[in-house]
Amino acid sequence: MLQVKPTILVTGGAGYIGSHTVLALQREGYGVIVLDNLVSGHRELVEDVLQVELVVGDICDRPTLDKLFASYNIAAVLHFAAYIAVGESVSDPAKYYRNNVSGTLTLLEAMVAANVKKLVFPSTCAIYGMPKQVPMVEDHPKDPLNPYASSKWMMEQMLADFDRACDLQYIVFRFFNAAGANPEGLLGEDHYPETHLIPLVLFTALGKRETISIWGTDYPTPDGTCLRDYIHVSDLAEAHILGLEYVLDGGKSEIFNLGNGKGFSVREVIETAKQVTQRDIKILECARRLGDAPILVGSSDKARKILGWSAQYPDLSKIITDAWQWHQRRHR
Ligand SMILES: NC(=O)c1ccc[n+]([C@@H]2O[C@H](COP(=O)([O-])OP(=O)(O)OC[C@H]3O[C@@H](n4cnc5c(N)ncnc54)[C@H](O)[C@@H]3O)[C@@H](O)[C@H]2O)c1
Repeated sequence: MLQVKPTILVTGGAGYIGSHTVLALQREGYGVIVLDNLVSGHRELVEDVLQVELVVGDICDRPTLDKLFASYNIAAVLHFAAYIAVGESVSDPAKYYRNNVSGTLTLLEAMVAANVKKLVFPSTCAIYGMPKQVPMVEDHPKDPLNPYASSKWMMEQMLADFDRACDLQYIVFRFFNAAGANPEGLLGEDHYPETHLIPLVLFTALGKRETISIWGTDYPTPDGTCLRDYIHVSDLAEAHILGLEYVLDGGKSEIFNLGNGKGFSVREVIETAKQVTQRDIKILECARRLGDAPILVGSSDKARKILGWSAQYPDLSKIITDAWQWHQRRHR
C-alpha cells in the first residue's frame, strides 16, 4: 500500500484494540510501527495478518524508546500498551502502577525528548466509578474503584500536566466495553485469561465453558441484570483515526467518551448470542458481585460534535456476529 501520510507509533499494537487500529491506520495510508513486548499481544497478527513492522520491546525501557524515535520519523503515538485485568490489579496493584503509570511516564519523557508531541490515549469509563447520572458525560465526577482504573486516571492527569509543561497535544478516549471483531474476520479479541462478557458467552457456545455466570439478577433494571454499553472495536479504531487527525491538524487536547449510548443487559447479550450462534448457552445465576454498577452507559455527544464520530456498528447482533465469526475460526 502506498504510504502518503506520516508514520505513527502504536504501542500495544499486537493487542485487541491496537491491532484493529493498526489496520484502520494502514487503510488510511499511514505508516505504522508497532511497539509491543508481546506479554499478551500476538506476533502473528502484526507480522502475518497486518504485515507491519513490529519492534518487540517495552514502554518501560527508555533506551529502546530513544532508539525508536531516533530511527523513524514518527509524527504521533497511539498508546494502547497496558495491563487491563481489573481483578488482577486489585491483587497486584504494583504491577499495574509500574507498567501502566511508570511505563507511560517513560514513554512521555522519551516523546518530549524526541520532540514528538501528539498522542492518542485509550482510557476507560471505569475512572468514573459508580454512576451519579446516566448516560455519563465527560465531566462526571471521577472515582476510580480499583487500581486499573486509578492507573488510567493517573495517566490522564499526567497527560494534562505534560500538555501544560511541554505543549503535548493529546486525545483521551474513555471508552465503555470494547467488543466484536473486524467484520472481515481478519482480527479479533484474544485475551488470556479472558474476563469480558461477550467472549465468555461465546466460549460457552463453543463448549469451552460449561456455563456463563450472571452475577446478580435483582438489579433495578428491566430484566434484573446489569446494563453495559458495548462498542464495536472497529468503531473504536475509527475514532482513534479521527482523534489522531484532530491533533495532527493542530487541535488542542480533548477528552471524549466513546460508547454506543445504549445499554444491553447481560441477559440480552446471552439471548442475542443464542440467536447468532444457534447453540444452547447454559446460564448459572449467582449473587451480585461487589462493586458492579447496575447501569454503565456513556454519552458520546462530544465526540460526535467535535470529531464527527458515530458508531457504524451499534447493533448488538452485529457486534456478536463479528465476534462469533472470529472465535469460531480461532478455536477450530
Ligand atoms: N478492552 C476494553 O474493553 C478496554 C476498555 C477501556 C480501555 N481499554 C484500554 O485499551 C488499551 C488496549 O486494550 P486491549 O483490550 O487491546 O488490551 P490487550 O491486552 O489486548 O492489548 C495490550 C497490548 O499491550 C501490550 N503491552 C502491555 N504492556 C506493555 C509494555 N510494558 N510494553 C509494550 N507492550 C505492552 C500487550 O502485549 C498487548 O499486546 C488498554 O490501554 C486498555 O486499558 C480497553
